[in-house]
Amino acid sequence: MGDVYIVEACRSPIGKRGKGLAGLKPADLLGAVQKGALDRSGVNPEKVDQVIGGCVSQVGEQAFNIARVAWLSQGLPLEVAATTVDSQCGSSQQATTMGASMIAAGVEEVVMSCGVEMMSRVPLGSNVKDGSPMGESYTKHYQPTSQFKGASMIAEEYQITRKETDAFGLASQQKAATAWEENRFEREIVPIEAPVMDKEFKPTGKTQVISKDEGMRATSAESLAALNLVPGQDIHTAGTSSQISDGAACVIMASEKAVKEQGLKPRAKIVATTLVGVDPVTMLKGPIPATRKVLDRAGLTLEDIDIFEVNEAFASVVLAWEKDLGIDPAKTNVNGGAIALGHPTGSTGARLITTALHELERTGGKYALIAMCCGGGLGTGTIIERLDG
Ligand SMILES: CC(C)(COP(=O)(O)OP(=O)(O)OC[C@H]1O[C@@H](n2cnc3c(N)ncnc32)[C@H](O)[C@@H]1OP(=O)(O)O)[C@@H](O)C(=O)NCCC(=O)NCCS
Repeated sequence: MGDVYIVEACRSPIGKRGKGLAGLKPADLLGAVQKGALDRSGVNPEKVDQVIGGCVSQVGEQAFNIARVAWLSQGLPLEVAATTVDSQCGSSQQATTMGASMIAAGVEEVVMSCGVEMMSRVPLGSNVKDGSPMGESYTKHYQPTSQFKGASMIAEEYQITRKETDAFGLASQQKAATAWEENRFEREIVPIEAPVMDKEFKPTGKTQVISKDEGMRATSAESLAALNLVPGQDIHTAGTSSQISDGAACVIMASEKAVKEQGLKPRAKIVATTLVGVDPVTMLKGPIPATRKVLDRAGLTLEDIDIFEVNEAFASVVLAWEKDLGIDPAKTNVNGGAIALGHPTGSTGARLITTALHELERTGGKYALIAMCCGGGLGTGTIIERLDG
């Protein structure tokens, strides 16, 4: 198997529901980030063999193979093919795994993986409002449940308290605030020009450039403790759950041959990847076996990893993962996560890989491990190794 190099990774800022990015179509947001990644990397668009995108709610404005629509909307070469995949919240991390596998197998030389979700315009669940795919043959085996219920069940299993989830939510906000104060995210962000909308959500004809994440809030332990539980939840509040957001992210990968022939700069190597299945009822425990499996594949141990990016779908997901594996919280989500920054589902996997790469570059670390829980009971895992530049 050949080596797979990351030559570029970038993302849009993460927009708050109904705010700065919400006036854009998903294809335009994703297209702007695809174009931004190409421009930054110096990769000739004609040399991209395939684009693989992730998106969760593939309906309406996010239907019809959104990764392809985004690419074509930028006037990029029509000969470059694209596919959109659905591994729920892990979609764009799995898109990266699929692209890396194609390069490792020698099938393709350059693959762009990416993801988008504009939850302001295409709310979660929009693709199932006319019916559920789970019929009697499914319910014979598993009781359909929700991510909220799963997150509560995990908290119960690992004896996680409200005090712990609130402390986690506060830390996420504080770390994200520090990261922005210190301009840690600036390098990974493609500023996005978006229409300014009026109070009725109609375009004003003006545009604005959005270049900063919008989810962060001034938060204190007292304000978090005062929040009501999310309906149907036993422990989580809006301050300890991932936010509903808009965003896109993109990773460009290349083979050793492409790096040499096209004069590209390899910034990291993809060391190992995985996608595992877990109980679809508790649903969100995937990062635990995914971490074990991807470490095993890489021949590495937890001690070898400099930073972990584990998606903050809900505080209990990351706390259970830390407890189960004995992880050092000081190495985890050092710049905050989806609780503070937001979680535009289909784009978050590529966003976490992007943030991990830039954090390794900032700190001089070697290995980062990225893991996510996904609806329906999946877990994603990726290990990347920064290369000395
Ligand atoms: C949890 C969830 C239901 C909250 O939605 P919401 O109620 O619309 O959230 P809001 O942002 O309006 O916050 C609710 C309240 O909490 C407050 N709040 C939220 N975070 C806070 C914080 N960190 N500190 C203080 N107050 C906070 C808000 O100010 C708001 O108060 P208000 O009602 O007085 O205005 C929503 O974010 C959600 O569904 N998250 C999960 C998404 C998901 O399933 N993703 C995919 C799978 S993981």
